[in-house]
Amino acid sequence: MKILFIGDIVGTNGVNILRRGLPVLKKEYGCDVCIVNGENSNESGTGMNRRDADDIFACGADVITGGNHSMRRANMELYTENRFVLCPANLLYSEDGCGVTTLDMGRHQICVINLMGVAFIDNHRNPFFELDKILKNVDCKNIIVDFHAESTAEKYAFANYADGRVSAVVGTHTHVQTNDEQILPKGTGFISDAGAVHAQNSVLGVQTRLAIEKQKYLKPVQFKVAEGNGYINGVFIETDAAGKTVKIEKIHRKFG
Ligand SMILES: [Fe+2]
Ligand SMILES: [Fe+2]
Repeated sequence: MKILFIGDIVGTNGVNILRRGLPVLKKEYGCDVCIVNGENSNESGTGMNRRDADDIFACGADVITGGNHSMRRANMELYTENRFVLCPANLLYSEDGCGVTTLDMGRHQICVINLMGVAFIDNHRNPFFELDKILKNVDCKNIIVDFHAESTAEKYAFANYADGRVSAVVGTHTHVQTNDEQILPKGTGFISDAGAVHAQNSVLGVQTRLAIEKQKYLKPVQFKVAEGNGYINGVFIETDAAGKTVKIEKIHRKFG
């Protein structure tokens, strides 16, 4: 199965970049399914509401995942009413099923799981135990986990814990693509962070001046999304008939 995974979309500017670039990438990679992390897709740069989700689907996503900002512009209904919009399954206030979905794409089936780390980020339920619980009820060869986490150590430990039990673990949240895509010993594809989709001239998608002000003076600055051309960052994953990853390739492509 050919799977395209795109990292955090930041603001309306990020959605506009996705609109221009995603059809090109989907065609080029001949992908069967496309997963997009939408946790920052609201015009404010944090959270996602129903309209933002609709916009991402209109760009060509099949499943939208989330993270620590999932609930900023929405409540649980967004995730209970559309089973292809996910928030992390281990959020303390999440409802059953909101972090897991299975898609039947005809020739292939795929299960997408969204989990959050707990190191240097909100302290929700332990994602290791949560994965065990979820996998007991999953009967699918292709399984992709969006592991939304801050710590690379936690991401590596989690991916190795999942090795051989899921097709791939794709890290999100830091907005910076890492240079460590690999296939783990038991066939699980992994990258610490897929990266993000936002204006190139920015601080992780935020207007530079505001981000500097916050870091320099520790002022409670209201962030605004930076405008302009930028990169689509993500990974392409190919699995075999058993659901093991046979290829994982970084995507870092500018769309202007
Ligand atoms: Fe993010
Ligand atoms: Fe995040």
